[in-house]
Amino acid sequence: MKVLVTGGLGFIGSHTVVELQNEGFEVVIIDDLSNSSIRVLEGITAITGKTPIFEQLDLKEKDKVEHFFSQHKDIVGSIHFAASKAVGESVERPLLYYENNINTLVYVLKSVLNLKVSNFIFSSSCTVYGQADELPILESAPIKAAESPYGNTKQIGEEIIRDVCKVSPSLNAISLRYFNPIGAHESAKIGELPIGMPQNLVPFITQTAAGSRAQLSVFGNDYPTPDGTCIRDYIHVVDLAKAHVVALQRLLDKKNKENYDVFNIGTGKGSSVMEVIKSFEKVSGQKLNYRIAPRRTGDVIQAYADTSKSNTELGWKAELTLDDAMLSAWKWQKSL
Ligand SMILES: NC(=O)c1ccc[n+]([C@@H]2O[C@H](COP(=O)([O-])OP(=O)(O)OC[C@H]3O[C@@H](n4cnc5c(N)ncnc54)[C@H](O)[C@@H]3O)[C@@H](O)[C@H]2O)c1
Repeated sequence: MKVLVTGGLGFIGSHTVVELQNEGFEVVIIDDLSNSSIRVLEGITAITGKTPIFEQLDLKEKDKVEHFFSQHKDIVGSIHFAASKAVGESVERPLLYYENNINTLVYVLKSVLNLKVSNFIFSSSCTVYGQADELPILESAPIKAAESPYGNTKQIGEEIIRDVCKVSPSLNAISLRYFNPIGAHESAKIGELPIGMPQNLVPFITQTAAGSRAQLSVFGNDYPTPDGTCIRDYIHVVDLAKAHVVALQRLLDKKNKENYDVFNIGTGKGSSVMEVIKSFEKVSGQKLNYRIAPRRTGDVIQAYADTSKSNTELGWKAELTLDDAMLSAWKWQKSL
C-alpha cells in the first residue's frame, strides 16, 4: 500500500518513514529540502534496507502537486508533515508561514480528495492549547488565541480539514496534536538536524555538551512548578512516529467513528527543564554547562497531555522514557 509522506526527510517525517517501511508500506516522500538534507534518505535506507521513492518538490507549487498526484493515483494515505516550524521566525515573517503552511495543506488536501481512497493525517501541535486552564490537557480543552503565526497556522490547518470533512464524507482525516518531540532513532542514523540555532531544548543541550554551543540558558527558575522551571510533555520521536502508523491503520481499517478526529500524542507526564538536564547528565555521563537566565516572554508554564483518548480509542501508548530519548539524542549528536 502506497503512502505519501510530505516533509518525509524532516525530523519527525524521517522517523515515520522508517516505521511505515518496517510495517511493509511503500513510501513516497515529497520534500523540498528547505529544512532537511538529502543524506537523510541514506539513513532511512541503512535502517530499513529500503529506499523510499523521493520527489524533490515544493508543495507551494500547485501545478507540480497536481502533476505528482496524477502520477500516483494509488496512494491510500497521506501524512502531511511539510511546514515551516520556527515560532520566532514566524513572528518576524508571518506571510512566509501562512503561505507555506496553509497553501501546501490546501493543495495536498485538494489532490487527496481526487484520489480513490482519501485518508489524511495532519501534524498539529499542543501549541493550539496555549496555557491550558486544566492539566493534563484533554483534546476537548478550549483552543486559545494563538501566540504566534506558526501556532495560528496549526489552528487554521485543523479548521480547514474539519470544514472539508463536513462536506466530503469520502475524506477520512486525523489531526495528531504532538506535545514535545525529542530523541532520535536508536541506530543514530537519523535524528533532529536543526539548521542554525536550535529552537528546542534538547538539541541545544546536546550541542552544548558537544562543544558547539558555549552554554545553555534555562529561561526562568521561579515559575510555580516544583523546581521552578517550565514543564513539558517530552515524547520520544520513535513513539510519535509509531502513532502515525497506528492512526493510518485506523483510517485504512475504517475504524474511525467520525470522518475527522483529533488525538493528543504525548506521554501524559510532564518533565521540567531541570529534569531534562539531569536525565541528560545521567545517561551521557557529561556535566552540562548551563546558567539560569530571566524568563522568556510567551513561555507557557506547564503543558502535558491527557493521553486517555489516544491510549483507548486510537490504541497507541508511548513506551520509551525520557532517559531513552536523551540517550538516543546524545548518540545522534555524537554521530554528527
Ligand atoms: N518538532 C516539533 O517540535 C513539532 C511539534 C509539533 C508539531 N510539529 C509539526 O510537525 C511537522 C514536522 O515537524 P519536524 O520537526 O519534523 O520539522 P522539519 O522541519 O524537520 O520537517 C519538515 C520538512 O518539511 C519540508 N518542507 C517544508 N516546507 C515544504 C514545502 N513547501 N514543500 C516540500 N517540503 C517542505 C522541510 O524541508 C522538512 O524536511 C511540522 O508540520 C511541524 O509544524 C513539530
